[in-house]
Amino acid sequence: MSSTPSSDNQHLDQHDAAAAAGHEPGAEEQEPVLSVRHLRVEFPTRHGTLVALDDVSFDIAPGEVLGVVGESGAGKSMTGNAVIQLLEPPGHIAAGEVHLSGKRIDDLPEERFVPLRGRHIGMIFQDPLTSLNPLFSVGDQLIETIRTHLPMNERQAREEALKLLREVGIPAPENRIDSYPHQFSGGMRQRVVIALALAARPEFIIADEPTTALDVSVQAQILALLKRLCADHGTAVMLVTHDMGVIAETADRVAVMYAGRLIEIGPVEEVIRNPQHPYTRGLMASIPGIAKRLERLYQIEGSMPRLAAIPAGCAFNPRCPHAQERCRTQRPDLLPAGGSRAACWLHDPVDPLPPRQDVEGQETSHVR
Ligand SMILES: Nc1ncnc2c1ncn2[C@@H]1O[C@H](COP(=O)(O)OP(=O)(O)O)[C@@H](O)[C@H]1O
Ligand code: SF4
Ligand SMILES: [Mg+2]
Repeated sequence: MSSTPSSDNQHLDQHDAAAAAGHEPGAEEQEPVLSVRHLRVEFPTRHGTLVALDDVSFDIAPGEVLGVVGESGAGKSMTGNAVIQLLEPPGHIAAGEVHLSGKRIDDLPEERFVPLRGRHIGMIFQDPLTSLNPLFSVGDQLIETIRTHLPMNERQAREEALKLLREVGIPAPENRIDSYPHQFSGGMRQRVVIALALAARPEFIIADEPTTALDVSVQAQILALLKRLCADHGTAVMLVTHDMGVIAETADRVAVMYAGRLIEIGPVEEVIRNPQHPYTRGLMASIPGIAKRLERLYQIEGSMPRLAAIPAGCAFNPRCPHAQERCRTQRPDLLPAGGSRAACWLHDPVDPLPPRQDVEGQETSHVR
């Protein structure tokens, strides 16, 4: 490793650590539900160590939806899986810490982590059938989850299950509670999964591509539901998606990932209106509506590097229209940039990289 500013992260004091986690200047401080610090995930292989996550830090506040976005292979699911200790071996957390409601959880052995899943951490994945058992009615699954985690008898748990099904918008739940997962449509099944995730009233929910398999109209309903329920319950949500449109609709803040690194983080309206990292600008061009204005400007050529071939310096440099010598040797840390923070030398507070004039000129003339 070169002596990049990001290695200085290890020595940040608490104030700076909050900043590194993506608190925008002036943002109100609130005890985060989830706090991820300098997370590094490695996969040892016969040909060397692959670094799947490299110095990832962020916080999620109560009732807040943090959208984690990036192209396929950016490390979004890896981040979620590391937080909930579901990394595929030999992948493991090699450095950093994860705290849930102030308690460190990354160093817990599996037997102490298991009770957290479901009770303190709800999980929603792309395919509802991975969360639902086809052999049991949805009522039985809800009741079992409720009774495992909350002090309720069978009758109380059934009442609670009906209440949850009503809350997630299952029509006539008293007629559906004894049905099996295959008797529900895809959208209704995902509602049941949300009910299951909320059943034990966890303080944190991780939703990995929760609507990717659904029709667009159903997708919007499910996202609105998830957002409303979590705001009502004060649940913090990590919403992983490759779809910037989903983030625009649902997230409060957005964390953009590239090659296992967090490259921009900030309030969603800031990042959408005024993306600061050249990669984020390219992603924004994929949102309908915004696309018209940006698409020809920020078409990103090329693709995400494989883990075995992450470029030195800024990992985005081979695809970046502004890349210059410093970008190829030194890795930028997250730096204050507009209303967000971006890992890009264009925002170096001491010696900002001058944007390439040819590119800037084009951008400006098109944007206006
Ligand atoms: N079990 C694994 N072993 C080695 N590499 C993996 C494994 N799972 C994922 N990866 C790699 O880690 C990177 C991040 O993957 P992932 O987090 O799944 O991406 P996404 O952002 O699409 O969710 C990708 O380069 C992927 O190829
Ligand atoms: S650091 Fe350099 S290569 Fe990386 S995004 Fe910024 S300008 Fe582009
Ligand atoms: Mg994924």
